[in-house]
Amino acid sequence: MNSKTVFLQTYGCQMNERDSEEVLGMLTAQGYEIAQAPEQADVILLNTCSVREHAEERAFGKMGELSVLKRERPELVLGIIGCMAKLHQDAIFKRLPKVDLVAGPAELYDLPYLLAEIHEKRQRGKVMAVGRAFRPLEQKPAGEYRRPGVGAFVTIMEGCDKSCTYCIVPKTRGQEVSRPAEEIIHEIARLVEAGYQDITLLGQNVNSYGKRFPDGTGYKGPLGRLRLLEEDPETLLDFPTLLRLIDRRTNVKRLRFTTSHPFDAHERLFEAMRDCRSVCDWLHLPVQSGSNRLLRAMRRGYTREAYLDKVSRLRELVPDISLSTDIIIGFPGETDDDFEQTARLMREVEYDSAFIFKYSPRPGTDAAAREDDVPREVKEARNQTLLTLQDEISQKRLQRFEGREVEVLIEGQAKRPGQMFGRTRGNHGVVVTGDAELAERLVTVRITRALPHTLFGEVAA
Ligand code: SAH
Ligand code: SF4
Ligand code: F3S
Repeated sequence: MNSKTVFLQTYGCQMNERDSEEVLGMLTAQGYEIAQAPEQADVILLNTCSVREHAEERAFGKMGELSVLKRERPELVLGIIGCMAKLHQDAIFKRLPKVDLVAGPAELYDLPYLLAEIHEKRQRGKVMAVGRAFRPLEQKPAGEYRRPGVGAFVTIMEGCDKSCTYCIVPKTRGQEVSRPAEEIIHEIARLVEAGYQDITLLGQNVNSYGKRFPDGTGYKGPLGRLRLLEEDPETLLDFPTLLRLIDRRTNVKRLRFTTSHPFDAHERLFEAMRDCRSVCDWLHLPVQSGSNRLLRAMRRGYTREAYLDKVSRLRELVPDISLSTDIIIGFPGETDDDFEQTARLMREVEYDSAFIFKYSPRPGTDAAAREDDVPREVKEARNQTLLTLQDEISQKRLQRFEGREVEVLIEGQAKRPGQMFGRTRGNHGVVVTGDAELAERLVTVRITRALPHTLFGEVAA
């Protein structure tokens, strides 16, 4: 067999990163080798993101550049996979006539078949994969690939049932489906055995885990969950139970999860976080806005007060918790007052870190029907204000570690020689004096200095 090479570039969220590993796993099992540069590849795939216009434009631009390679190598296969593929199949073929293959997130398991079809029949025409029936996991072509390192992602659910008015994800990823707990536990046990120490559970809303399983079981919705909690909280397979099961039945050292939707984050979750030795002191809890008016317009399902209540309850149970968040500025109709309330909420919560996004209208979403009326300069100014504010807060939050000893999992070399880089259980980056001997080790580090986004320290004797 002629050995072929594949180059795959990933945009977007961690779910996409994980999907890319799945694709590489399937293709390497079929004899493909992974190319380090597009120029060396027989197949080039971009795994794309549609969450903001900027992300889409970057992928369109990149594929435009890559199309030039086909002038000299017409047999080269170009594919767009992931969220953009699902949304824009026609536009992609129109704007990028050199593209051979388009496959959305639910069609990734079809890729080996589609590529084989293209190669074997030397078919010159387009192969459309979008819209094919979901291939059940059991029929997934064999093959496993993981990026080397200390951490690994494990997908626990697909899709999203929420309807945040600005968000395209429910359209690209479809309805929520949770993976059976046994499958997840076995996957984590295998990863731990292979040496991975820091496992991140992935889903667009991990807190609604257990709502719907592939076989049709599950608690179905918030009411089903409440009913089962009253009947028998012990047997309810929801996200807190999943955390406890993984904690009890695997030897994972560090367990994290993302993303948590505040509406579905309850006391039961905070208790599980407190009780499970492996669960890290870190929670990413995207608030999006501090204004009740905007939270309603975004259809987030909680108020600023409800959000703040959850944060204080969590801090009672897990006092040293590190919090991070996502914030959207410039949502349609955002006034100075709405914006001020977001800034106030950030000061009140004191996040360890925050991602600030400028609102980007996504075609077909409810919010896109409203005028994108916050001027660009205003979005830019608000963005800057929040970045500066968060730097101050981050600096203050990180200073609490100065003089303390913390557990650090060393990932690898830092930028400067003689320095290694790792993370605390709270997900803070730490630069540690030392050499490659420390790589992939869990060490106790005395923190000597805190910058807004990085801690510095020495291995404690
Ligand atoms: N499921 C996750 C979010 C996934 S998208 C959650 O609910 O938290 C990641 C982040 O992108 C979101 O939290 C939001 O802050 C941002 N985002 C999503 N759609 C956006 C849009 N249209 N414009 C700007 N930012 C957006
Ligand atoms: Fe998008 Fe909301 Fe679903 Fe997150 S919860 S993916 S923001 S619709
Ligand atoms: Fe982007 Fe799709 Fe993830 S739109 S954020 S890659 S789910």
